[in-house]
Amino acid sequence: MGIREFEWKDIEKIMEIELESFDKDVWSIEEFMKWYELCRDGFLVYESDNEIVGYIIVQVLESGKGYIRSLAVKKKYRNKGIGRKLIMESVSKLKLNRLELHVRVGNPAVEFYKKLGFEEIRRFEKAYRDGEDAIYMALELK
Ligand SMILES: CC(C)(COP(=O)(O)OP(=O)(O)OC[C@H]1O[C@@H](n2cnc3c(N)ncnc32)[C@H](O)[C@@H]1OP(=O)(O)O)[C@@H](O)C(=O)NCCC(=O)NCCS
Repeated sequence: MGIREFEWKDIEKIMEIELESFDKDVWSIEEFMKWYELCRDGFLVYESDNEIVGYIIVQVLESGKGYIRSLAVKKKYRNKGIGRKLIMESVSKLKLNRLELHVRVGNPAVEFYKKLGFEEIRRFEKAYRDGEDAIYMALELK
């Protein structure tokens, strides 16, 4: 139960969550390999009932500044506070005072981030290959 660091043996479970969570931007195993190498400390999983039900990948860009590369919770386990816990755990583990991300303008996760205190900084028109805009959001801590 709870949050721990990702281990490569978890990848199959992570891919299951990935496939049910994203349709346009599904990552391949190679993409996960890349981020595993780049940010092991910030790749966390949430376990419940001996099962991985969520994950977050936060890259530390510079001291105190993190960037959410990916975040997803298994559908059945959403709206139970797991996404929020994954974010808060990365903030304390990585000693962050700022957390940033880009998200598709039409993604319902925008509301989730706003609930957590993230603010919209800027929009990027047609940022994604299919023409959708991106929102750049940030959360200042302390
Ligand atoms: C976004 C996501 C990670 C949220 O995870 P979660 O575990 O369901 O979120 P939580 O339960 O911690 O929610 C925290 C708060 O946000 C709210 N919230 C969560 N999802 C929401 C949504 N789609 N719309 C509005 N509010 C939402 C919750 O109601 C909760 O509010 P509360 O504090 O008032 O109770 C999850 O919906 C998901 O995996 N989505 C698909 C993948 C994705 O889009 N990831 C983000 C890519 S940048």
